[in-house]
Amino acid sequence: LFDRAELAPADPILGLTEAYNADTRPEKVNLGVGVYLGEDGKLPLMEAVRAAEERITQQRRAKAYLGIDGMPAYRDAVRELIFGADSSALADARVATVQSLGGTGALKIGADLLRQLSPEATVLISNPSWENHRALFTRAGFDVETYRYYDAGIKGIDFDGMLEDLRAAEPGTVVVLHACCHNPTGYDLGSEQWDAVIEVLAERQLIPFLDMAYQGFGFGIEEDGAVVAKFVDSGLNFLLSTSYSKSFSLYGERIGSLSVVLDSAESAKKVLSQLKIVIRTNYSNPPTEGAALVTTVLTDPDLRQSWEDELGAMRERIKDLRKGLVDGLASRGITDMGFIAEQLGMFSYSGLTKEQMVALRTEHGVYGLDSGRMCVAALNTGNLDYVADAIAAVRAS
Ligand code: LMR
Repeated sequence: LFDRAELAPADPILGLTEAYNADTRPEKVNLGVGVYLGEDGKLPLMEAVRAAEERITQQRRAKAYLGIDGMPAYRDAVRELIFGADSSALADARVATVQSLGGTGALKIGADLLRQLSPEATVLISNPSWENHRALFTRAGFDVETYRYYDAGIKGIDFDGMLEDLRAAEPGTVVVLHACCHNPTGYDLGSEQWDAVIEVLAERQLIPFLDMAYQGFGFGIEEDGAVVAKFVDSGLNFLLSTSYSKSFSLYGERIGSLSVVLDSAESAKKVLSQLKIVIRTNYSNPPTEGAALVTTVLTDPDLRQSWEDELGAMRERIKDLRKGLVDGLASRGITDMGFIAEQLGMFSYSGLTKEQMVALRTEHGVYGLDSGRMCVAALNTGNLDYVADAIAAVRAS
């Protein structure tokens, strides 16, 4: 039987971390996976998370099973974060929310639910999108196609093309949208563009699935979350996945959420019951630690403030790193990559070719994705010049 298993290619993102870890060159730099590293090149333990961890440890709680849909206090806390305390959808109890295994887990639970309710639907993702979107929805059984998004010619969004593709979609098509900090391009829709997209989604009766893994890394928690409020106000039914890997630096805890916003409390109850079956038949119920940490931070005013401040400092530091890279490249004669400073979130879609990205990796130990995506949030003043030198070298050859 197992002879039938063929050797699969390495994951385009996490496979790079494996290759990076195996690389023995001391000067190597991992700009592959989307992880924020501090000035010391290490993963930060956020102060609010550290304090929350201390409190939780002191409580010495036994490790009981959580409910299938997760920790109730966690669900309340993240719903408030995502939708706002005075959201009409929450007041009407028409949101079904479950704790998930990170953002990926939320997407998969949502995909499995959609596949059950609408097996014939097509899923549209942006061109380009996060590598795992296509793989995940394909694995869930869907045909995955793309809508136009990034225009390399203008280094920005092909908005007319995007609208045209959405208008051409069949009713019932699932449309995956990045709520903020588009991965991989770093180019987001503006407020009026979102309004226009929402209008087409409603007109064509499409099913929006918002993926929000980087809330707080664009302009701020509230500012980045504004798009969710727009969707609630539109009256559309939609799915929303969130991740707290990046914004709480809790990558290994696998903590996120899936919400489905519906017309009525009655529908929310039914959808929640189906989500619980999806979860129960996959991993039964989620783990406790990440939920306890996020809940403790979000529900304590001091810890929450400290968390928002630190997240704000991370966001500003990434902007400085972008500028530092642009300046570093300019001082090496590369003046056509200033767009790096305009992009939002952790990534820069560098425009480098696959050959150049491979050369960066093999010749210089600088790991980025074949698509040209580089995680600028892993730069620091110690490796920035080295990376700029490496980019200049591959551009010159
Ligand atoms: C990324 O895009 O690098 C992150 O979202 C991590 C992942 O799981 O791919």
